[in-house]
Amino acid sequence: MNENRTLIIGAGGVASVIAHKCCQNPEVFPDIMVASRTKSKCDLLKSAIKSRIETKTKSSTARVDADNTEELISLIKDYKPAIVINAALPYQDLTVMDACLETGVNYLDTANYEPPETAKFEYKWQWAYRERFEKAGITAVLGCGFDPGVTGVFSAYAQKRHFDEINYIDILDANAGDHGYAFATNFNPEINIREITSNGRYFEDGKFIETKPMEIKRVYNFPEIGEKDMYLLYHEELESLALNIKGVKRIRFFMTFSQNYLTHLKVLENVGMTSIKPVDFEGKKIIPLQFLKAVLPDPASLGPRTKGRTNIGCIYQGVKDGKPKNYYIYNTCVHEECYAEVGSQAISYTTGVPAMLGAMMVLTGKWRKAGVYNVEEFDPDPFMDALNKWGLPWKECFEPELVE
Ligand SMILES: NC(=O)c1ccc[n+]([C@@H]2O[C@H](COP(=O)([O-])OP(=O)(O)OC[C@H]3O[C@@H](n4cnc5c(N)ncnc54)[C@H](OP(=O)(O)O)[C@@H]3O)[C@@H](O)[C@H]2O)c1
Repeated sequence: MNENRTLIIGAGGVASVIAHKCCQNPEVFPDIMVASRTKSKCDLLKSAIKSRIETKTKSSTARVDADNTEELISLIKDYKPAIVINAALPYQDLTVMDACLETGVNYLDTANYEPPETAKFEYKWQWAYRERFEKAGITAVLGCGFDPGVTGVFSAYAQKRHFDEINYIDILDANAGDHGYAFATNFNPEINIREITSNGRYFEDGKFIETKPMEIKRVYNFPEIGEKDMYLLYHEELESLALNIKGVKRIRFFMTFSQNYLTHLKVLENVGMTSIKPVDFEGKKIIPLQFLKAVLPDPASLGPRTKGRTNIGCIYQGVKDGKPKNYYIYNTCVHEECYAEVGSQAISYTTGVPAMLGAMMVLTGKWRKAGVYNVEEFDPDPFMDALNKWGLPWKECFEPELVE
């Protein structure tokens, strides 16, 4: 493997931000390759970067079907990267991990594996690779976007710097952006709609408690955004944080949705358009949700239209030096500023920047240990510094409004 080389799989909204940010950081990323199913998209991305950034990073493109392990192995053997960043879809996590194992190359992704035929994500499939990655002496970093990702790093940082014991964690994800469409999703529509139409779930007293989709609603007054309706969802970092933050009693995840978004979603659900069960259409089997994805706006196209701000962060309640303590840490991001910098809206930006930073942590040896890890298992300090330097500065509040 060549320590100078990074292979990015995928050429969508998130991959585009990762590639832009790598090119802003040529000391760590002197050579990148973007490889995806549709090579023309990789080439377009390469020319978009060239028109935006003057960089010493050398970039190339390739076509690869990441569902096919053999194709991946052959590409990795040709290019010889030190790390592969999977910015395609969660369905490809395992094939990319298999290819990394076979070739002895480090791995990073932003979303945990889920089988295409069941809308159920869990870490068990990827945690099953722990011993093999350890034996091969390579690192796999799981879930290194914003949530999961920065939310895990924030948790490790809160644990290290602010608490003797964390009892409650609330992760709050607010998007006050407006793209002007009646309905669109901010990242891959298929993955997004599968996530939010599933049952909600939260962790309490050692077990997970299931709710109906969007059953639990709260209103929260977000710094720099204002009051928003938010709904409890299950999110993958709950599974790893419940294991890695010792003594935690409750972890919940809330995301904001407008009434307009929920009404559209309800109608689509009621008429069967969000189903992942194949149906017969003109002699072919089609999956309604995949057809819906084809007619919805491409998330990568929302960049120039989206205005407003995101706020994603975590509220911790716990104990420090025998006294109760509360701590809120968050980042706010402005859609228009992200677009001006890298040609993407803030959802892709807040995912792509941490993925670049995670790869930087591995390549510079700060997060290099053999095995498969979630981000909160690494030292948060260098990553926290890097967030401030590379576009996602964080803010702290010691008397936050708490979520009921
Ligand atoms: N952790 C977080 O905070 C967070 C937040 C948002 C998103 N995410 C994750 O980020 C990932 C990317 O999201 P996105 O919005 O960038 O999605 P996207 O715009 O739909 O892009 C997905 C890309 O993957 C490519 N791809 C799909 N299947 C492939 C295959 N078999 N082989 C090679 N390439 C393939 C697609 O190629 P084609 O164009 O040819 O289809 C496309 O370029 C998703 O896994 C999502 O869950 C994480």
